[in-house]
Amino acid sequence: MKMSWLALAGVILLSFTAKASNSTIDSFDSREATIDGVHNALFSGITTCRDVVSSFLSRVETFNPSINSIISLNPNALNIAEEMDARIAAGNVTGSLFCIPILLKDNYDTLELPTTGGCLDLADNKPTVDAAAVFALKNAGAIILGKTNLHEFALEGLTVSSLGGQTINPYDFTRTPGGSSGGTGAAIASSFSVFGTGSDTVNSLRSPASANSLFSFRPTRGLISRSGIIPVSYTQDAIGPIARNVKDLAVALTVMASIGFDPLDNTTSLRPPSLSRVDYSRDTIGGSLRGLKFGLLEGMFNHTSSNETTPVNDVMSHMVTVLQNAGVEIIPIAESVYNSTALSASLDVQAPEFREDMNAYLQTQSLNGSHHSTLGQVYTSRKFLVIPSQYSFVETALHSSTSNSSYAPTKLGIQNLTTTLQTTFSANALDAIIYPEQKNLVVKIGSPSQIGRNGILAALTGYPVVTIPAGFSPPTDDALIGVPIGMEILGLPWSESKLINIASHISALMHVRRMPSFANISVEVNSYSSVPTITPDSGNIPSAYPIGVY
Ligand SMILES: *[C@@H]1O[C@H](CO)[C@@H](O)[C@H](O)[C@H]1NC(C)=O
Ligand SMILES: *[C@@H]1O[C@H](CO)[C@@H](O)[C@H](O)[C@H]1NC(C)=O
Ligand SMILES: *[C@@H]1O[C@H](CO)[C@@H](O)[C@H](O)[C@H]1NC(C)=O
Ligand SMILES: *[C@@H]1O[C@H](CO)[C@@H](O)[C@H](O)[C@H]1NC(C)=O
Ligand SMILES: *[C@@H]1O[C@H](CO)[C@@H](O)[C@H](O)[C@H]1NC(C)=O
Ligand SMILES: *[C@@H]1O[C@H](CO)[C@@H](O)[C@H](O)[C@H]1NC(C)=O
Ligand SMILES: *[C@@H]1O[C@H](CO)[C@@H](O)[C@H](O)[C@H]1NC(C)=O
Ligand SMILES: *[C@@H]1O[C@H](CO)[C@@H](O)[C@H](O)[C@H]1NC(C)=O
Ligand SMILES: *[C@@H]1O[C@H](CO)[C@@H](O)[C@H](O)[C@H]1NC(C)=O
Ligand SMILES: *[C@@H]1O[C@H](CO)[C@@H](O)[C@H](O)[C@H]1NC(C)=O
Repeated sequence: MKMSWLALAGVILLSFTAKASNSTIDSFDSREATIDGVHNALFSGITTCRDVVSSFLSRVETFNPSINSIISLNPNALNIAEEMDARIAAGNVTGSLFCIPILLKDNYDTLELPTTGGCLDLADNKPTVDAAAVFALKNAGAIILGKTNLHEFALEGLTVSSLGGQTINPYDFTRTPGGSSGGTGAAIASSFSVFGTGSDTVNSLRSPASANSLFSFRPTRGLISRSGIIPVSYTQDAIGPIARNVKDLAVALTVMASIGFDPLDNTTSLRPPSLSRVDYSRDTIGGSLRGLKFGLLEGMFNHTSSNETTPVNDVMSHMVTVLQNAGVEIIPIAESVYNSTALSASLDVQAPEFREDMNAYLQTQSLNGSHHSTLGQVYTSRKFLVIPSQYSFVETALHSSTSNSSYAPTKLGIQNLTTTLQTTFSANALDAIIYPEQKNLVVKIGSPSQIGRNGILAALTGYPVVTIPAGFSPPTDDALIGVPIGMEILGLPWSESKLINIASHISALMHVRRMPSFANISVEVNSYSSVPTITPDSGNIPSAYPIGVY
């Protein structure tokens, strides 16, 4: 993915001289753009920050109507870019993300735009304070280009919401993009910005990475503050980046983790002091796969032979062979406890935690604009899309709390699972554990749920996971280069460095990531006088998901 400075300059100069025009700019092709690529083009004077932002805006305008991944664009993005151009001229460039356009999942508070959670009832929810992670990203120079669609309140993996409509998978327009951070997944896959952010209560950073041939990081519980993010579950929520390559993922993770201790999220007190100024981008160099031991979780496969499951099993077999050839010892782990369906049924604590955590968010003093102050009010507003398969979950959550008698025993069960997982690591001297994110291909649009996902193990234990592209299903008429398939690599707490190093080696060995073919086209870059407005297409919600009924 990394283009040398000279190669990049050559491509850009060529297109510049070949196509002189009036109303468009040809200086920067943002397809698969990396942080280093943007910086090389900027600092060598080949392009300006304004043109970098314009080139991503042009891609959004051209391709977003096909995939409906964007909820809003930041009206200040071009002004911020102009300030950055002035700083380049003044020799005042700071920050590892200087002039890097990024997209935020629309459950992150940022001053520039409402935080909707995809919910029509929160359309006017206006934060007056940036989420801790957003503050860190802006402080490092990132430009918030806009916000992406998500499954309403991040409660499922289909990425359909009352405000944002249905997001479409860019590799196969008949499929969902995974979720709940599916808007970020579809947008980053289509090069609408350099990287994006997501949140993950069970699968939500990993399913969109898997379904869009991307990398994501779900960090160890406590590494990154979650304050200023619409919550689902204190125990299970985590936030992190989604990117097109490991280096950008590592840089973004470093910035998001730079918050350190945040009194507004006490899990950040768990972080060891030794990690205070870590730079994960250094972990993309050096090291080796040779001699590492990976556990392979056998319970996280569906061995039925079908068009939906066989491609996943084939991609994982190939992955195992490649890893073994690279000197990794693969140790099959068949313990029956590693069963995602059973773990979700017995230990998931979203239902008792959601209402309390959501009410606390809605009552945050820093939220301006008109909005309800309890989950119950939002639910009965008739502007809250609850798909049929979620109905009983939401009804239960509305009548549950952490005082329920089942809550404390479930938390003990989670502790027990965590001890069991640690024992699996130590008994087998494992460096990491691997399994497919999803046992089957990402589901079709209109499906009742995003079945077959394996994210629950990390969600409950708080162990970190890097998700990487593992392969594609065979091409079909609907999926011209196939449907992306991703693999989770789970490590011990605080092993982010090791996971980034492993992901970096596998990525360099296999080069799996590809662009969706519909967006692998260079677009003419408009010279904008202002940021265009985007209206999400909520008219495309499948009829299987009635709005406002509940
Ligand atoms: C701008 O470019 C377009 C397309 O190349 C051309 O049709 C048009 O005449 C040009 N306008 C001006 C004012 O040069
Ligand atoms: C550099 O830019 C930053 C951000 O705009 C500003 O706060 C700072 O004062 C500038 N420094 C200099 C030396 O101009
Ligand atoms: C965070 O606060 C909650 C509620 O006061 C408490 O139960 C929990 O133990 C605290 N967690 C940490 C890591 O301090
Ligand atoms: C396994 O995959 C088959 C074929 O797609 C599907 O019908 C079945 O429901 C799956 N089983 C489980 C337990 O998910
Ligand atoms: C499975 O895929 C093959 C090859 O694309 C196709 O011919 C067949 O109809 C598919 N089967 C089902 C059940 O969709
Ligand atoms: C996993 O757990 C589910 C639900 O408890 C059960 O139906 C299924 O048989 C288990 N799978 C395996 C492979 O044991
Ligand atoms: C809150 O919104 C009101 C009405 O739009 C506005 O007057 C006020 O300045 C806002 N407060 C903050 C802190 O942004
Ligand atoms: C919590 O208790 C309420 C009232 O008894 C009950 O309706 C709800 O289902 C319980 N929730 C959970 C998650 O156990
Ligand atoms: C703890 O986990 C082990 C392994 O999964 C299981 O056999 C045991 O029953 C669990 N104990 C409790 C108290 O949940
Ligand atoms: C874009 O398309 C070209 C031509 O088909 C192909 O060679 C290239 O690999 C594609 N780029 C990516 C990143 O998939």
